[in-house]
Amino acid sequence: MTAAADGRVARRSLSLAFDGSALWLLDQTRLPDVEEWVEASGAESAAAHIRALKVRGAPLIGVAAGLSLACVARSGAPRAAFEAGAATLRAARPTAVNLMGAVDRVIGAAARAGDAWREEAVREAVVLFDEDVALCDRIAAHGAALISDGEGVLTHCNTGGLATAGVGTAFGALRRAWEGGTRLHVYAGETRPLLQGARLTAWELARLGVPHTLVTDSMAGALMGAGKVHRVLVGADRVARNGDFANKIGTYAVAVLAHHHRIPFHVVAPSTSFDPTCASGAGIPIEERDPAEVRGASGAFGRVRWAPEGTPTWNPAFDVTPAELVTSWITERGVLGRGDLGGG
Ligand code: MRU
Repeated sequence: MTAAADGRVARRSLSLAFDGSALWLLDQTRLPDVEEWVEASGAESAAAHIRALKVRGAPLIGVAAGLSLACVARSGAPRAAFEAGAATLRAARPTAVNLMGAVDRVIGAAARAGDAWREEAVREAVVLFDEDVALCDRIAAHGAALISDGEGVLTHCNTGGLATAGVGTAFGALRRAWEGGTRLHVYAGETRPLLQGARLTAWELARLGVPHTLVTDSMAGALMGAGKVHRVLVGADRVARNGDFANKIGTYAVAVLAHHHRIPFHVVAPSTSFDPTCASGAGIPIEERDPAEVRGASGAFGRVRWAPEGTPTWNPAFDVTPAELVTSWITERGVLGRGDLGGG
């Protein structure tokens, strides 16, 4: 990694390092066994890393895209290359609205800055990073206050320091509750097909010493039936005006199960994941990914395939959970009910 080029703008989080002119990402496809950093200072390379899920999680892909544009601006590249890079990044993944929001903010700040557009792009990208850290802190405090001593909490996918620039959203609430002395037990759903729960959430929980148990997605019903889950906390990639939300595939099934078992189900997300232009979940674009991800698995161990070569698959990366299955939406503003959302 290069030395800090400008101490005033250097930023570092669990999985992202920016030195003022270069951006590095912890390659999440190699975790938990290999901790390898990859450079993402160009818009093309950052977009490729976002598509490959080397960097992932709705808030973090927005921050990473913004900082990679800052690197392009700093590099002396022409304005046209900066704007083409923004378009490439915007299109890298379709579901998390944070990505488009972050790119638009950096482009908008540069557009308003005249000749100072390079400095302004860097400044805005750093603001995006700092804001995400602050949003996570506020969300985590609101979420932690909901959790009672002795609760078992099921979460899905990864919403921690590997998904944000800060402590995370749903994960941040769990972390803050634990650090504040609430005795809790986290059940991490493994999150097929890319195993963000098994590879990433289990890794983060272990590093922090939070008591946890890994379960496969198909165990959620049995776990709830056994009385081990008192609350479900999940993140979101995009929340529509009526409260429907898209999150990692499998979230909807967990919400239905929680409803059946009368277990509170909370969506934990910053305002940057809310899309005021989207009236309901029907308007949220859902990413479909490579069939190979369903036919097998890949990671630091290499690639394995267990289904017959060429087996037809369906591989949506996200599903939409209807608002009626949600107990509350935890944002930096507090714990919101359906009536607080602004409607659809
Ligand atoms: O495909 P991923 O790993 O980027 O999906 C991530 C999720 O679904 C998270 O739950 C969501 O982005 C919220 S992260 C705070």
